[in-house]
Amino acid sequence: MIPNSIIKHQPVMLATALTQLQVKPGVWYIDATLGYAGHTLAMIEAGASVIGFDWDQTAVDHVTQTHPDLIAQNRLLVFHEAYSQMETIVRSLDQNIQDRIVGVLFDLGTSVPQLTSSQHGLSFSADGPLDMRMSPKKQGVTAADLLIFMSQKELTQVLRDFGGETDAVKLARAIKTSPEPIKTTGQLVAIIERVKHRTGKLHPATKVFQALRIAVNSELDHLSSTLPQALSLLDSGGRIVTIAFHEGEDRIAKHTFRDWEHQKLGINISKHPLTPSLTEIALNPRSHSAKLRTFEKL
Ligand SMILES: C[S@@+](CC[C@H](N)C(=O)[O-])C[C@H]1O[C@@H](n2cnc3c(N)ncnc32)[C@H](O)[C@@H]1O
Repeated sequence: MIPNSIIKHQPVMLATALTQLQVKPGVWYIDATLGYAGHTLAMIEAGASVIGFDWDQTAVDHVTQTHPDLIAQNRLLVFHEAYSQMETIVRSLDQNIQDRIVGVLFDLGTSVPQLTSSQHGLSFSADGPLDMRMSPKKQGVTAADLLIFMSQKELTQVLRDFGGETDAVKLARAIKTSPEPIKTTGQLVAIIERVKHRTGKLHPATKVFQALRIAVNSELDHLSSTLPQALSLLDSGGRIVTIAFHEGEDRIAKHTFRDWEHQKLGINISKHPLTPSLTEIALNPRSHSAKLRTFEKL
């Protein structure tokens, strides 16, 4: 059991997400990124039922251990799977559930507990193996492996595209010319700190860690291949809401929703993304880069 005291994930843009999803009682929503169930529990409190996915065993264990009542009442179904399995899994459920799915939420990226524990090798403040796989049993390649397999040019590209890292060339050179194989987060942080100094609040390793995590877990591919699954599972008038913290993810939602509208599959509600209020950013600085988009199926 995970003590509640260490779980400090605040759901981002909670009220806006619920409003955009038009949450109402008696119907089903899919939470593609269950995490610590912040959004899910609010939907259930509003009288809805939720099918939740997460590829992180710790998050799934936390939710199943803290809410056995909701699971027993069939208000919450929890799957320890990548959300790209969504269509296969939901199509295997009772038809009565499948016919009442009116919303799908993607609150992308990582939760605070994932970023602060050494468990997945995502934290640059806790030393641990440089792994970053969110489903270690199903994925072969770790971040440490990637640093060996990728050429300096490929690594530069990954740091730039997935991390928005402006020092990508220098960092990729330093990583690829390291005299020892880089096996731990501490080793990687030490190399980054030799090349980059902290400016402002951001730790110099933030963007490199984000880029490697996205590459190891093929996060952008998961999103682009799953949005059409979400659309096909939705009832007419149902909505998809994405909350992205990374430009690449937000671009996928933006282009997909725009293309779907051109194909007359529904309405792209968010010509411009919604963002958190200044109050929310002050209370939860992690929310500052969030962009929320909505699509409604015809
Ligand atoms: C930002 S957190 C979600 C937080 C959640 N909305 C809450 O309020 O507690 C994102 C979660 O999505 C999960 N996740 C990210 N990509 C995933 C994927 N492709 N398949 C399944 N889970 C994924 C992560 O493990 C993480 O727990």
